[in-house]
Amino acid sequence: MKVMIIGSGGREHAIALAVQKSPLCSGIVCAPGNPGMANQGRCVPVNVSDNAALLKLAKDEAVDFTIVGPEVPLVNGVVDLFRTHGLRVFGPTAGAAALEGSKAFSKAIMQKYGVPTAAFETFTELASAQSFLKAHPAPIVVKASGLAAGKGAVVCLTDAEAESAIEEMLGPQAIFGESGKTVVIEEFMDGEEASLFAICDGKDYVLLASAQDHKRIFDNDLGPNTGGMGAYAPAPVATESLVTQVCREVIEPTLAGMILEGVPYTGVLYVGIMATSKGPRVVEYNCRLGDPEAQVVLPLFGGDFLALLEHAERGALSQYTGVSQSQGSAAVIVLASEGYPGNYPTGLPIEGIAEAEATGAKVLHAGTRMEAGILVTAGGRVLGVVGVGSDLREALAQAYAGATQVKYKGVFYRNDIGQKGLARCSN
Ligand code: AMP
Ligand code: GLY
Repeated sequence: MKVMIIGSGGREHAIALAVQKSPLCSGIVCAPGNPGMANQGRCVPVNVSDNAALLKLAKDEAVDFTIVGPEVPLVNGVVDLFRTHGLRVFGPTAGAAALEGSKAFSKAIMQKYGVPTAAFETFTELASAQSFLKAHPAPIVVKASGLAAGKGAVVCLTDAEAESAIEEMLGPQAIFGESGKTVVIEEFMDGEEASLFAICDGKDYVLLASAQDHKRIFDNDLGPNTGGMGAYAPAPVATESLVTQVCREVIEPTLAGMILEGVPYTGVLYVGIMATSKGPRVVEYNCRLGDPEAQVVLPLFGGDFLALLEHAERGALSQYTGVSQSQGSAAVIVLASEGYPGNYPTGLPIEGIAEAEATGAKVLHAGTRMEAGILVTAGGRVLGVVGVGSDLREALAQAYAGATQVKYKGVFYRNDIGQKGLARCSN
């Protein structure tokens, strides 16, 4: 099978590595990929927001199967378009991807089908949001309903923060543009977070390892939210009983509900969970693998990942027999550019990847490019250094040993990835 992978980040590099291992895979086209993915397949420049260009590429390359990494093409309906043209593609249709593309939609689905989540109200007018806030003091959470590259949720610890968050979204500034013109204001939930990933075929699902992301830029969860500064899998907070409860109370009613809504869910259902004192509550749904969570979840998947996705795409997960999780743990340290998630420089030469990999770690590319034959930085999150071990401590030691080898000007990473997991392991 010739496989096309849409996307260019660390998640897509992890997908390419997993797909390359499958005996079903005869070749990979990366659309557009990155310099790291060039070791797995042929990278072809294309804009992932341009569905017509993606379709043309799939046809020109005569690919048999396409895997969509990021949310933007999914929400834009790339799956619908490919299917109309008779092409096989793994991911949700635009209608189903609205679980991520519209928080107003996903909260309504959760409410309708009894999925536990924070109490909420949806607003399109500043005045009504302001009077709601008067009756609901901080802490409270203000979210842009649409896609905002992971930056649309504002956890407000004071009333003033909440007032300015709604003002910025619903007022004339409209900092998230159309995405912020509908706002969800929800109850603040206290607890530890975990991410669960279900590969879904519309009715059945296969669960991958749980993971925990580190969204804030600085150690001890300080500073602004980022796309994710590191992750580990499995997450000890996601105990067997919590996972069973999430399957029964979240994933199963969501899949059943989406069928009733006429938008059956095929693709990755990413469930962000808060383990509260009252049990697990959904923080958000995403319609794709997490980034950087994919970098730790996929190395632990012991089956044939391409076969799994191919079964899901044709609604035949119940016939897939290859499920197995390996026993160990994985950790990824994200190496970022100085200044991220604000402004940062690019084009800085990167050294030390071979040295990092000599420690046993694996270096995945996220924001890199080749410039005159030299590998340089090209994004806020530059590389992900992955360690795999028999337990979390070993995985972290390998990942950090690798991370210290990589050099570019202003290289920045968190030093406390996995600490919450380690604390639970030693309890
Ligand atoms: P989201 O974009 O919905 O994933 O939110 C981003 C981050 O904001 C989450 O990973 C949480 O850390 C935090 N967050 C979102 N919603 C809530 C909530 N209701 N209570 C507490 N924290 C939240
Ligand atoms: N790491 C968070 C996300 O992929 O949404």
